[in-house]
Parts: sequence; structure tokens; C-alpha cells
Amino acid sequence: MHFDTTHLQALQTPCYLYDTELLARTLDTIHAEARQHDNYHVHYAIKANSNPDVLRQIAAAGLGADCVSGGEIRAAIDAGFPAREIAFAGVGKADWEITLALRVGIGMFNVESIEELDVIQQLATDLDMRARVSFRINPDVGAHTHAHITTGRAEDKFGIAKEDMVAVLRRAQAMTHIDVVGLHFHIGSQLLEMDDFAALCSRINELQEVLDAEGIAVPNINVGGGLGIDYEQPDLHPVPDFHAYFSTFANGLQLRPNQQLHFELGRAVVAQMGTLLTRVLYVKHGHERQFVIVDAGMTELIRPALYGALHQINNLSADASREPAVTYDIVGPICESSDVFARDYVLPQTCRGDLLAIRSAGAYGETMASTYNCRPLPTAHLIQ
Ligand code: LLP
Repeated sequence: MHFDTTHLQALQTPCYLYDTELLARTLDTIHAEARQHDNYHVHYAIKANSNPDVLRQIAAAGLGADCVSGGEIRAAIDAGFPAREIAFAGVGKADWEITLALRVGIGMFNVESIEELDVIQQLATDLDMRARVSFRINPDVGAHTHAHITTGRAEDKFGIAKEDMVAVLRRAQAMTHIDVVGLHFHIGSQLLEMDDFAALCSRINELQEVLDAEGIAVPNINVGGGLGIDYEQPDLHPVPDFHAYFSTFANGLQLRPNQQLHFELGRAVVAQMGTLLTRVLYVKHGHERQFVIVDAGMTELIRPALYGALHQINNLSADASREPAVTYDIVGPICESSDVFARDYVLPQTCRGDLLAIRSAGAYGETMASTYNCRPLPTAHLIQ
């Protein structure tokens, strides 16, 4: 990504920058790769980035939406996603959210428990409508990622145990206002090993055999999201390897005739096009360590504090005359010792007033921002 520092100098920091050209390139790649398979449908997981301009661009590219709240359903509709292309997931859907989803006519609910199924049946009956329902099955597949973002193991709170799948489907089929339309899975996020997705495919194949034996057919399989991105070298891999990702499913999954395959990708669509721009407030020379104190903190980007995530950081103001490089701890202004972007990070000699780019921040950055310490929410600007 190329940054025009003269233009950026004028911006109030901290703020997000979204590169619409890179987003367009990413969406083109998704389109080109998914089009190789005529039954693939890609939904964008709105939770990753719900900036209205970003959503409009993704909706215009023809992706569906994966929503986890009533607010996200509204944001998706406002941005132009067709209601029929919306999947509504989440372990704890409130009654008003289910009613809203029924009224706008979403494509499917991803249902996570029998208790939720009963409520959807009741609310659909009250409205005299039918609810299209997929069941999220916990595939009991481990994934190689951070413990906070793996979701498909037996002990995780998500989904219905695979042993209960048949009983739940039968119960739903007997309901008056429910149409069973599919199975849903999601094993975790920031997955870089295609073997994890291959393991999911094998598990889905086993479960489909169980369904065949029971004489149950489902028209849709949804494999969730999770494709990771290169946080270490964003300029080397600005667009994730969608070819390897879709091929893993094409090779590993035995779909039934006319079965449609759905994906819910968040991070892979938007992470690399986003940068958190921050200004250096002070360079503090401690006895042991040198601290670069910036005006962004965990309030704007919580990933380093929450998951120990490392984002590449570039000093946009430093030119070659600033050599030699120095090892810094790069920290925010929030009153928490976890408010650290990077420890022992090498930057060119850095000064008060320098602009730093915290890279790969387009996913789970702005959407996870908070007003802790009475800070204003960050603004966002589109760049090309
Ligand atoms: N589908 C379901 C059911 C999900 O729970 C998620 C993400 C996605 C799709 C999209 O996953 P993606 O393609 O973005 O990996 N805040 C964390 C990530 C949390 C992911 C939550 N679920 C982070 O900053 O790493």
C-alpha cells in the first residue's frame, strides 16, 4: 500500500484508512475464484468491518451477508445486501432480532440450539410466516489458531453436538413454521493451514452419510469463515490465497446433487485494506527500554491486548536520514498495562509528531473499538 504522507498529515489521528482499490482487487479475486464453482455463495461476515462505505462496496460486488445481530441485519439492508442473501448466526438471538429477521425476509437462520429453534417456531407462528433454518453443528474439529478464536471443538459454546444432529433435524421437520434448509459449521478464525478446512470437509462428509442413511436431504451446506491473512508481511500478501481456500473445499467436500455451498468470510475480505493511522505523542527514554507513546490505543485496536496479535507497524514520517534503527516498545495512552501494540519492535529513529501506520487493521479493528476512558470512537477515511 502506498501512503501519501503530505495528505495524511492533515488528518486528525487516530483514524482508520481504508484502501478501496485493494478492497476492489480482493473482491475481484473472490469473484473470479468462486465463479469457478457454480454452486458457491460467499457471504461477508459484517462483524469484521461494518463501516457503511465498506459495506456498500462489498454489497455492490454481489456478496451476501453474514450477520450476528439485529443491528448488523439493519446495516446490511441499508448497505444494499439483498435480504434473501443474509444468514443470521449467533448463540443468543433476542426475540426482537428474530422478529426483525423474519419481517425483512432473510435467507436463513443459523440455529445453535433446540431452545432457540422453539423460540423461532413460536415467533414465526405469531407472525404467520415460515422461517428457513440451518443448524450449526459443532464438528468437534480443532483448529490451529488462538484459543479465543477457535470455535469448533466439543467443549466450545457454539452449535449443536453432532450426536444430536439427526434428532434436532427431525424435530424441526415436524414443526409447522420451520423449513429446514441446511447445515452450518464454523471452526475458527485466522486459519492459515488448509488442513484445518480439509478436516472440516471430512467431518461434513461423515455427517452427510449419516443424513443419507436417515433419508434426510439438506439443500445447503455452510462452512463458515476463518481464512487467515498474513499479518507479518501485508505488502507481500495483500490478497489472501482464495484459490487454495476454495480448492480445499472443491477437493475435500462431497456435495450432493444441487447442494449449494456457502462461505462466511470476514477477515480475508477486509483486513489488509485497513490501516490504523496514529501519531507519536512522546518518545520516552526509560532506563531499560525506549517507549514510543502513540495517540491510538486498545480503544481503537484491541487485538494486540486481547489476543497478543502482532500488526506490522511502519513509520511513515521517517526517511533514510533517520538511521540507525532503534528497538522500541510501542504503546498507547490507555490506563491499562496491556495497552501495548508491540514490544521490542524495530523502527527507524522515531520522533514526536511522526505518523505511524498500524497495518492489517481492516478486520476487527473499528468494529471492536470502544469509548473506554471517555475516548471518542475513531473516524475512518477512504483512500485509493
Ligand atoms: N462465521 C461465524 C459463525 C463466525 O463466528 C465468524 C467469526 C465468521 C463467520 C467470520 O470469520 P473470519 O472469516 O473473519 O475469520 N475478533 C477476532 C475474530 C473473531 C471471529 C469471530 N467469528 C479477531 O480479531 O481475531
